[in-house]
Amino acid sequence: MVVILLGPPGVGKGTQGARLVDEVGWVRIATGDLLRAARREGTELGKRAQAYMDEGELVPDDLIVAMVREHLEKLDAGTTVLFDGFPRTVPQAVALDAMLPEVGRKVDGVLLFEAPDEVLVKRISGRRSSPEGRVYNVYFDPPKVEGKCDVTGSELIHREDDRPETVERRLEVYRTQTSPLISYYDAAPTRVMRIRGDGEMEEVWAGVTDALAAELGVEVPGA
Ligand code: AP5
Ligand code: MG
Repeated sequence: MVVILLGPPGVGKGTQGARLVDEVGWVRIATGDLLRAARREGTELGKRAQAYMDEGELVPDDLIVAMVREHLEKLDAGTTVLFDGFPRTVPQAVALDAMLPEVGRKVDGVLLFEAPDEVLVKRISGRRSSPEGRVYNVYFDPPKVEGKCDVTGSELIHREDDRPETVERRLEVYRTQTSPLISYYDAAPTRVMRIRGDGEMEEVWAGVTDALAAELGVEVPGA
């Protein structure tokens, strides 16, 4: 199966996605995390992506599609893929639809998270991230030891693009370039599952597990 996490910055895609990985063993492909890893490693892709990311702009579609293709080709046939932050534009969705049949897959469902901008801005201002892509929040979900990841002990960082000016731009980019994907998937034979993203983490999780059970027949243990 292939499931897409869609929604504005700060809505909880990474948070809910990490929990799905832990609890149902899906494989998450998070393009933002892959790009940040490429930057840390100083690869050509990382260097090309840097300026776009720091300004809150999207990285060009061709670079993203090539990166995703490389990761998809490495996956075992039986795994469920969870895309986080991809596709981000209609051309990326079209490219994905063209590429999936080559690996014997199709998009089965889209989890669409929605929340008001004030909620997103507050969450992003409190976010701290580990280099491995785990997220915490100084207001809502602090780590056990300040500034350190609970799992790996790595130093937590405040993402470069989480500055207030850049966050405004990312919200604008979501509205203009990414939200057209909602009508794209509404028109496709894909289940679009609308999830209220502004509740507490457990409430959002309940929305996710209920939708997956009702729409895709996926039972999450313990949910
Ligand atoms: P990316 O890394 O994908 O960032 P994003 O979409 O802006 O989303 P975020 O990671 O900011 O938010 P999230 O929804 O994951 O929220 P989280 O769970 O962390 O992309 C970054 C950049 O890379 C882009 O701007 C672009 O430049 C580039 N890029 C990436 N993919 C691309 C693509 N496909 N095409 C082109 N360019 C691409 O939660 C946020 C905070 O809130 C956390 O602190 C969390 O602890 C907290 N929180 C979560 N849920 C709750 C809750 N229910 N209650 C309280 N707090 C909560
Ligand atoms: Mg994220």
